[in-house]
Amino acid sequence: MNISSRVSEISESITLKLNAKAVEMAESGKHIYNLTAGQLPFRPLPEFSALIRDELDFIRSYQYSPVNGYPELRSKILKNWEKTRGMELGEDFDCVVTNGGKHAVSNIMGTLLDHGDEVIVLAPYWVTYPEIIKFCKGVPKIVYSSPFDVFTPSIDQIKKEISPRTKAIIVNSPNNPTGTHYSDQWMSDFAALMIENPHVNIICDEIYFQLFYYDPKPTFYYQKNPELLARTIIVDGISKTLASTGLRLGWVIAPKKLTKAITKLQGQTTSGANSLVQRALVNFDFDLIESYLEPIKKHLRDNAQTLREVFKENDLSHTWYQSSSAFYYLIDFSHTPVIEKFKTSENDITDHSPEICEALLESKGVATVPGVAFGMDNSARMSLVMEKEPFKEALEIIVSFLNSKD
Ligand SMILES: Cc1ncc(COP(=O)(O)O)c(C=O)c1O
Repeated sequence: MNISSRVSEISESITLKLNAKAVEMAESGKHIYNLTAGQLPFRPLPEFSALIRDELDFIRSYQYSPVNGYPELRSKILKNWEKTRGMELGEDFDCVVTNGGKHAVSNIMGTLLDHGDEVIVLAPYWVTYPEIIKFCKGVPKIVYSSPFDVFTPSIDQIKKEISPRTKAIIVNSPNNPTGTHYSDQWMSDFAALMIENPHVNIICDEIYFQLFYYDPKPTFYYQKNPELLARTIIVDGISKTLASTGLRLGWVIAPKKLTKAITKLQGQTTSGANSLVQRALVNFDFDLIESYLEPIKKHLRDNAQTLREVFKENDLSHTWYQSSSAFYYLIDFSHTPVIEKFKTSENDITDHSPEICEALLESKGVATVPGVAFGMDNSARMSLVMEKEPFKEALEIIVSFLNSKD
């Protein structure tokens, strides 16, 4: 059987590959520190679980939902966005409830892109963006950044990538995999650049919006210039802030022209999202999320602080940066002694992140995700969600590995 070129050309998820190996090693009795997690290992809010239980006995919870989501939920999502961002969306905006944030992104690409349309992706990026763009026959245009500017892509570089074929740019702040959000100044400069380029739509992935543990809080370009909302497409969902990745519920907020097109696509592909969870969310008080996240943010702050101390104590301050949001940290191998073991020559600047991560897992039992998956060579993503003690142990192992030359 021949598989379509559309699917054959998509890269396989490296995240899943290393995770599978970590699980296999753990099953064979080896102690593994698994830092690959892309989710919070906590129970969701009890008030939310109770609402799901309340809906269990209704037939409607098991039946099709409207393709674009329950109207009460959609208007609640729109109002909550306006309240938390301090902005008004106006009559021209709507929301489509999707089967998770990833589905929101693929719906957007499926409705927006024609063959050869370019989408600017800021690296390090969430692994899925370039693959979905390619699947939809678009062309990802990557703008790179470095740990030395705390992974902030330069506005000038973005400007250089804009062409008449640029259909959209994706902004993901707070960011997966860096665990940082772009500065307020960056958002102002970015807004100015977008005003100069009225043909570019902006996909704003806000799935980690509430997960920041150091001030200043994330701000957005549309708060600098509300005119830009008219070509903004927002991605969000409950996966991260309600610790509910398995419930598969996300949404797109966008001008009605796009939400209608997405509804048409969704109506012929997946139909409406999970009825039970939508019905529970209709009665859920979104204001509760903030207090729910407080202890989680404290935990992330404490682990980020431990990371800073351990890096400092082990002469790795030069590769350290301050993470502040989401729940990840990207370790840069390129200026640590360990890289020498993997280089094939003195001038070798190619990527060795899969081999380095494999060695870290096989020889030290610490699982991370190779940075190549995020467009950042010679690095690895680790998650900050682990319990404090094992997290510190894992860090000690990582830094001794980073400092090892033989
Ligand atoms: C930046 C970003 N956007 C979107 C998603 C999609 O989340 P989900 O499909 O689990 O709702 C993720 C998940 O890891 C993410 O990191």
